[in-house]
Amino acid sequence: MTKRPFLVIAVDGGAASGKSSTSRELARRFNLLHVDTGAHYRAVALACHRAGIDPHDLEGLRDFLRRLRLGARVDGHESLVCLDDGEPPRLEDLRSEAVNAIVSGFAAEPLVRQSVKAYQRGQVELARSRGFSGIIMDGRDIGTVILPDADLKIFLTADEATRQKRRELEGASETVSDRDRKDSSRATAPLKPASDAVIIDNSSLSLDEVVDRVAGLFPDNLRPS
Ligand code: CDP
Ligand code: CDP
Repeated sequence: MTKRPFLVIAVDGGAASGKSSTSRELARRFNLLHVDTGAHYRAVALACHRAGIDPHDLEGLRDFLRRLRLGARVDGHESLVCLDDGEPPRLEDLRSEAVNAIVSGFAAEPLVRQSVKAYQRGQVELARSRGFSGIIMDGRDIGTVILPDADLKIFLTADEATRQKRRELEGASETVSDRDRKDSSRATAPLKPASDAVIIDNSSLSLDEVVDRVAGLFPDNLRPS
């Protein structure tokens, strides 16, 4: 029996560079499972915050992470991360100003990155087992660390003013460049393009234009119908 083609796409980029919206639309058009790995770090940061764990208290953090179980719920083309109660955290909690302020600190901690790695890699099998034509995973280190053998790697950029305006239009008040600075300068898995990533500056591209451009890069033998 010939194996069905299965397309693995890694999308990385800074805050508000368009990763999630581009990935979500590609997932919808081509029957891919979309995995937003930023939500994994946000969920871990939220759980730690609720439990009063400080990212610098390594013993406390290690203990907490050892007990923390991440689950996945597939909803349409989205894989939603679930915490110990088996429920996905509310989006307004994951994307709150409080979590915006602490998430990069937790994400810089190797213990945290180690604790989500297997979960994130396991999403590929989840997508296969649920009959998707592929997976599109977005984050900061997907092309460099999590899925280094991805069939297609995209690194999205947009100028700072554009990204700041996008977030403001969504009602957020954080300065996106602050988080980018922390994410780019950390020692473990910093935000940077993989050497074989295609860099797309989407400052003046509509969502549809970016989606069409990425779809035009799909390898012919793996293109979902
Ligand atoms: O949506 P936005 O781009 O603002 O952020 P996100 O994708 O939800 O990611 C939140 C934070 O999680 C980032 O600022 C990083 O600190 C961390 N992150 C990471 O370190 N590695 C990833 N693969 C994804 C997110
Ligand atoms: O996931 P990430 O933080 O990289 O960005 P996003 O949440 O996908 O996009 C941030 C905002 O920019 C959303 O409101 C998108 O609708 C908007 N956007 C846009 O206006 N033009 C694009 N080409 C991509 C995203």
